[in-house]
Amino acid sequence: MTKLPKEVTDARKPGYDINPLILGRWSPRAMTGEALSEQELMPLFEAARWAPSSYNNQPWRFVYARRDTPAWKKLFALMGEFNQGWTKEAGALAVVLSKRTFEHNGKPSRTHAFDTGSAWENLALEASSRGLVAHGMEGFDYDRARKDLGVPEDYEIMCMVAIGKRAPASKLPQELQGKEMPSDRKPLKEIVMEGTFRK
Ligand SMILES: Cc1cc2nc3c(=O)[nH]c(=O)nc-3n(C[C@H](O)[C@H](O)[C@H](O)COP(=O)(O)O)c2cc1C
Repeated sequence: MTKLPKEVTDARKPGYDINPLILGRWSPRAMTGEALSEQELMPLFEAARWAPSSYNNQPWRFVYARRDTPAWKKLFALMGEFNQGWTKEAGALAVVLSKRTFEHNGKPSRTHAFDTGSAWENLALEASSRGLVAHGMEGFDYDRARKDLGVPEDYEIMCMVAIGKRAPASKLPQELQGKEMPSDRKPLKEIVMEGTFRK
């Protein structure tokens, strides 16, 4: 078990003891601007690959771009101004896609997005355990992503991920520096209910 850094233990007080890997994952924005090598990046997708899915359909797909490559320009251009403001220092970007149908019978999968969510969390946990940033984003142009990346209709575009080497908050635009800390969560009693749904 890894020891959690103070920035995490100060901000996050779990009601029960859980694996520090889970509590220690958060979404920093400050990154060094160094490119990530294939060797640094692929283990994150490898972690995603081992997620569970209905019928083991493995609906997740990842289109990635490493910094300083022609593909980087294409993926970077998809994001809105806010996300571009900090992802300009990322080492890689990825778009997460999810196949809407089953491979074995072509029928719609109810849980494809749920399955792909598990894969993204695996990726994020693996990144965090390696001291890397993996920050999910929905602030990008989904229609343009479909067109520019050539994504067929059968695949839903879920989110983008900025991946990189962590840097001090001072690397960020002024207005984001104060937000560079792990966030809290709703209490357990608000999200878990015995027997019947309760608002
Ligand atoms: C699917 C998804 C989309 C997100 N979109 C953005 C985004 O566009 N820009 C951003 O700065 N953060 C974005 N976030 C980060 C969330 O705000 C963050 O995960 C949430 O506040 C919980 O904080 P934590 O990840 O540090 O625990 C996104 C996260 C997810 C999972």
